[in-house]
Amino acid sequence: MFIVLVGTLVSILGFRGKTAKSPPLEVFPDMDRQAKYKPQVVNDFYADNRADRLPVQGTALRGNGLNLENVFSPTPIFGSVEFRTGKTSDGQWVLNIPKEADIDLSLMRMGQEGYDIHCAICHGKYGNGLGVTSQFGLAPRNLSDPSQSGSYLESAAPWPDGQIYNAITHGSASQIMLGLKDKLNPRERWAIVLYLRALQSYVGGATNSEEKGKDS
Ligand code: HEC
Repeated sequence: MFIVLVGTLVSILGFRGKTAKSPPLEVFPDMDRQAKYKPQVVNDFYADNRADRLPVQGTALRGNGLNLENVFSPTPIFGSVEFRTGKTSDGQWVLNIPKEADIDLSLMRMGQEGYDIHCAICHGKYGNGLGVTSQFGLAPRNLSDPSQSGSYLESAAPWPDGQIYNAITHGSASQIMLGLKDKLNPRERWAIVLYLRALQSYVGGATNSEEKGKDS
């Protein structure tokens, strides 16, 4: 009895917290695993041995996960080149947020929400580059505060709206900041540009008036 008891206790409690290389004995698999093909793998089922399939011949992509309306609509709306890319058809930056973005207060709110979710952690709540990550050696660009030295977008070399839109779409040149084209649709990206402009005039206005105060 004693040996059985010790054996049971050790087998239940004795190895808790230990890691093992071999997979555990599974009485019930609990849906831990799923039979599926991962991207870019071989699948003998098809003549070309590729698990990834091309779209059916003669079909065209209409919309994606970000704009489902287009998928089923008989009259899909794609927006102009300017609206989608931030560039004109001859490759120049779009100077101002395109009218198609429907600029109003709701766009500003959308931009605030988007900025707080996607940008504030690095660039700071007010866009001055002092987000949480800046305390850990990352140097996000100062986007709003002209009183700080460095790369204030407005004073160093004014960035047109399209260029900021492009940075949100594709990320920064060094790719420390990643693009968000897979997470935000064009209107949501323009919304962030709009909010960033508001931050710039707010922070810029505040620091300018402080400096004026000092002078007088
Ligand atoms: C992971 C942190 C991080 C996040 C999140 C982030 N940025 Fe950046 N951003 C940076 C860094 C760092 C730079 C400086 C350029 C570099 O080193 O890549 C930068 C540069 C920029 C630039 C200048 C682009 C360039 O090529 O220099 C703009 C504009 C900008 N960010 C806007 C935004 C906006 C708007 C968002 C939110 C949609 C955002 N960033 C989110 C870290 C971030």
